[in-house]
Amino acid sequence: MTKDELRTSSEQLENLASGIRRCVACRLHESRRHAVPGEGPASAGIVLLGEGPGGKEDATGRPFVGPAGRYLDKLLENQGLTRKRLFITNCVKCRPPENRTPRRDELKTCTSLWLERQLELISPKLIVLLGQVAARQMLGDTATLSDWHGKRVSHNGRNYFVTYHPAAALRFDWVADTIRADFDVLGKLLARLADLP
Ligand code: URA
Repeated sequence: MTKDELRTSSEQLENLASGIRRCVACRLHESRRHAVPGEGPASAGIVLLGEGPGGKEDATGRPFVGPAGRYLDKLLENQGLTRKRLFITNCVKCRPPENRTPRRDELKTCTSLWLERQLELISPKLIVLLGQVAARQMLGDTATLSDWHGKRVSHNGRNYFVTYHPAAALRFDWVADTIRADFDVLGKLLARLADLP
């Protein structure tokens, strides 16, 4: 990407973020405090995709800044990564009430209006799917974490890596062990990022 192209993509990404902050396309806007567009450079080679904002994210407008986010930061740090090189976002940009799972229509509206446009602009080499909601949204309803975690999956011209959600790792020891092992695989994959198609 040339400097000019990068500036244009960054501006377009910021325009999308402004649109997300004003979005009223689904019922989730009614109870939000802040929409959470996502953060990171337009030049990011990797996108991390979660489910939707929680309480801390809703209060601040920033992705993954609560307990799950702190856990995610440690997983990244273990692989020598910081957020600066990544774009971090969610399938839905507004917190579902009581932290319920986003509904199918909310997911469809938000991903087609916003996430797809963010991904087109960033055009990452790899999209890391954190948890079942993100995996199913991007790979279809047959995606099961137990079979697909820790692996790279090519789908519709994009490269994905599937793993568990960091919030689940805070609840279950076996998920913490699994997600750590998955991130070791991810770290090795990222070292070869330039080789991915
Ligand atoms: N869980 C998510 O899926 N996303 C966040 O931003 C925070 C918690």
